Amino acid sequence: MKTGFYNISVLYGASPRGTFKSGSAMMQLDVLENAYLIVVDGTIVELGTLDSEGLKSYTVSQSGEGSFKQSQFPSPESTINKSEADLKKDVEIFQSIEKTSSEKTPLKAEAGEMESKNLELSEIHWIDLQGAEIMPGLVDSHTHIVFAAPRHEEFALRIQGATYEEIAAAGGGILNSAKKLRIALEDQLFEDASARVKLMMQWGTTTLEIKSGYGLSVDSELKMLRVIKRLKSNFPIHIKATFLGAHAFPMEFKERREDYIDLILRDMLPQVVAEELADHIDVFCDEGFFTPEQTERILIKAEQYGLPAKIHGNELGLTGGVQVGVKHGAWSVDHLEHCSELEMELFKQTNGATIPVALPGTSYFLGIPFAPTRKMIDFGLPVALATDFNPGSSPVASLQTVCALACTQMKMMPQEAFHAVTCNAARALRMENEVGSLAVGMSADFLVMRSTDSVKTIPYYLGQNQVLHTYCKGRRVASSALNS
Ligand code: NIG
Ligand code: FE
Repeated sequence: MKTGFYNISVLYGASPRGTFKSGSAMMQLDVLENAYLIVVDGTIVELGTLDSEGLKSYTVSQSGEGSFKQSQFPSPESTINKSEADLKKDVEIFQSIEKTSSEKTPLKAEAGEMESKNLELSEIHWIDLQGAEIMPGLVDSHTHIVFAAPRHEEFALRIQGATYEEIAAAGGGILNSAKKLRIALEDQLFEDASARVKLMMQWGTTTLEIKSGYGLSVDSELKMLRVIKRLKSNFPIHIKATFLGAHAFPMEFKERREDYIDLILRDMLPQVVAEELADHIDVFCDEGFFTPEQTERILIKAEQYGLPAKIHGNELGLTGGVQVGVKHGAWSVDHLEHCSELEMELFKQTNGATIPVALPGTSYFLGIPFAPTRKMIDFGLPVALATDFNPGSSPVASLQTVCALACTQMKMMPQEAFHAVTCNAARALRMENEVGSLAVGMSADFLVMRSTDSVKTIPYYLGQNQVLHTYCKGRRVASSALNS
């Protein structure tokens, strides 16, 4: 079935398929006004503008040049023959939708799913978005949302002055989560993680990476990855799994670290691959965790299995994570609370093969430096942002909140933050041909926004959900009330 969405005041992210943006290009919004979108089987088959002459389809070349031509599809006006009863019904639906009080917001369709009266003629089921703005679904490229329990007691300890490292050295931190996860039932982990996914969908996330790493034993790592596999098949959004057995050294291997790496390489990795439980591998390469040499051992083995790398690096110091990640073609190096010009130069030389991903929620919650993304962007890098949603360092579900932190604390502009959570984040998962922009051939993942100028209101209205409806693969998968 063809579904058309029309009466879109502004469509953001109208970039060529495969786009990611570096440096100053992150300020440039690709926008269509008075737009429409046609979707077949979850994929965008046409988008463009709708004016008095009808539909004009829009295409952009790889060089970024856009052009219009007459559409082959009939306009909604010619195919929707609304009776008075239909109109009354629509008004009732639209009246129930909240508006932000401070702005002249156009009425938003509660996806006013009005059937075309001439469906057989047009074969398009047109949905009137009532003048709302839309933007691509958000991409969260770094999370740890499968966990057994929160760690707010550590949060309280940190308020009183303890550091993340001190808490970890005393058996708290990741090991605290591992202790609880090992005894948790798989079904319970699935239920709890499902609630987190639903919340994230309401806040606009349509692509989600999830890591293991709280198991730290063969059985428990596999248990986590099976939960992620179940989330993949139970949710209508795009989910990717990352094997993070090398997240910390478990207590029982404290004095024999190389033996734990042997366990990862000999027992965990082959099973993870055999059961097709992971799309990538990750290593926490940092002070007190895995050294660059140990990281390299793991990455070499993963390469043999064809698993691409994503690295946790430079959270606690300049510890070589970028060097080893870039050397092994990691798709991203994440954290980077510490990042010198030398590391920036290494990123630059990859030409976007390795994406720097910043996690401002972690800096905020741990009271550590924020990644120098202003400098990175001025240096010409394609910066991405993610939540790092986890029970210890970043209990943050919303990429909108992350954008707010990035703007206020890291001096990123709202336009830059927008690209950092859409097309650049997609690139960090090598999904930029599928998600992160709105172009023909890409997944129809888009957000119906609550206000006008929505790229700018996302980081501005801190803690207020700017997403009214979340669509993924052309279907509405979540809606929100204000502040939900
Ligand atoms: O990305 N830094 C390492 N891993 C996670 C934190 C995990 C935890 O504290 O539970 C992170 O911040
Ligand atoms: Fe993380």
